[in-house]
Amino acid sequence: MTMNPQMLGAAYLAAGALFILSLNGLSNQESARRGNLFGIIGMIIAVGATILSGNVSNFGILFPAMIVGGIIGTVVAMKVEMTSMPELVAGFHSLVGLAAVLVGYSSYMDPTAHFEGSEKAIHDVEVYLGVFIGIITFTGSIIAFCKLKGVIGGKPLTLPGRHLLNLIGIIACLVLGYMFLKAGGHNGMMPLLIMTLIAGIIGIHLVMAIGGADMPVVVSMLNSYSGWAAAATGFMLGNTALIVVGALVGSSGAILSYIMCRAMNRSFISVILGGFGTGGGAAAVGDEEGEVTSASAEEVAGLLKDASNVIIVPGYGMAVAQAQTTVSEIVKKLRAKGKNVRFGIHPVAGRLPGHMNVLLAEAKVPYDIVLEMDELNDDFPDTDVSLVIGANDIVNPSAQTDPNSPIAGMPVLEVWKAASCIVLKRSMASGYAGVDNPLFLKDNTDMLFGDAKDTMDEVLKHL
Ligand code: TAP
Repeated sequence: MTMNPQMLGAAYLAAGALFILSLNGLSNQESARRGNLFGIIGMIIAVGATILSGNVSNFGILFPAMIVGGIIGTVVAMKVEMTSMPELVAGFHSLVGLAAVLVGYSSYMDPTAHFEGSEKAIHDVEVYLGVFIGIITFTGSIIAFCKLKGVIGGKPLTLPGRHLLNLIGIIACLVLGYMFLKAGGHNGMMPLLIMTLIAGIIGIHLVMAIGGADMPVVVSMLNSYSGWAAAATGFMLGNTALIVVGALVGSSGAILSYIMCRAMNRSFISVILGGFGTGGGAAAVGDEEGEVTSASAEEVAGLLKDASNVIIVPGYGMAVAQAQTTVSEIVKKLRAKGKNVRFGIHPVAGRLPGHMNVLLAEAKVPYDIVLEMDELNDDFPDTDVSLVIGANDIVNPSAQTDPNSPIAGMPVLEVWKAASCIVLKRSMASGYAGVDNPLFLKDNTDMLFGDAKDTMDEVLKHL
């Protein structure tokens, strides 16, 4: 059975509409499951319609490949920890990039394709652009994956004259593009291959130059690139659904990157050009003056018992320790005693957008007490206890006070303005951006050292 062009168009239109509904649903926790479902249905329609379009043959290869790919995807997605999600996303982006490169080459080499005149020029531009974006996405995503996994350190690689190197690379790709378009028939293979090599190196170099703290933006930027690579593939194959999906992914990734940059008070260009941040892990208080004081779990439980207003600020460490269920239990107990307990979520807390919201939703924390940074940042002066659980950069006062700090100007949760501030972490180590944190030295700050799950369990026991 094959679909006629009208049916195919209608199916792609329905899939496109479902993808838009899906993105809309994913913008809110309560509708996220529904959004996911729309996305799944849209994808089934798009793939099904493409299979029935009459343009696909060789089902003997297609179906086994789909089954094997489907099984691998399912197993990987079921097994992945929330903390490893960014790596997984980066890994998947690399596959989109690779697919665009392979489709570009096969489409160029296809002996049955005979384009003439302007059609050939357009097709060649699609191939060249698709391969260019695809290879940058591929190599850049692999480096992002390795950085997030810790295989490569988070420190930015700042080669001398690196902007010039990138510029020379891009100019070379433009010149090769001209040669590729000028070559008749299938004679452009050599410039295409050389461009693939150069653009691959540009992808590696671009992401190597970006520090660990900016990796979330890089992942979302690569997400955007992978969308444009998919759209280019759609043009090469004449597949409307792929063009629509690619454009949706490309633009939503770009918007998300912009939102994240705004949350970190950085310009998109400064992030992309790289050179920011360190490898992290150094002692977090440098030459600051003041003394670090610590409290026991019992003392923290006592403080919470006496408090009426509590704000909890979770960060990456809560995810690592998997402390969210205990935290949820503690919150339940405190709320049962009539205390006003809320969560303050920084837009880049954790390692991916919405990381904290997902963990808290999983632990059944009511949505209405989980607030965005802007919604409660002014309430800290009226707060008795601020409890910082495995967060560091997002509560760093030097973002406001030290214009030379690498995170200067980044909006932060003003936890130090509460009457007492308790910081849960295992050591004095710095956070992802690798910068000092004077919060730990403030008079009203006490550290509760240890794995956040263990210390929260202790606090719960004393409550
Ligand atoms: P970080 O600044 O990385 O701080 C997390 C802290 O958690 C660390 O200082 C660590 O200190 C502590 N920790 C780690 N494991 C722990 C455990 N088992 N128990 C208790 N504490 C533990 O995280 P943040 O405050 O959430 O800030 C996010 C940072 O990551 C920002 O710099 C942001 O730009 C960047 N980033 C964000 C994203 C997104 S989109 N959310 C993605 C990638 C990167 P110890 O080692 O002393 O325990």
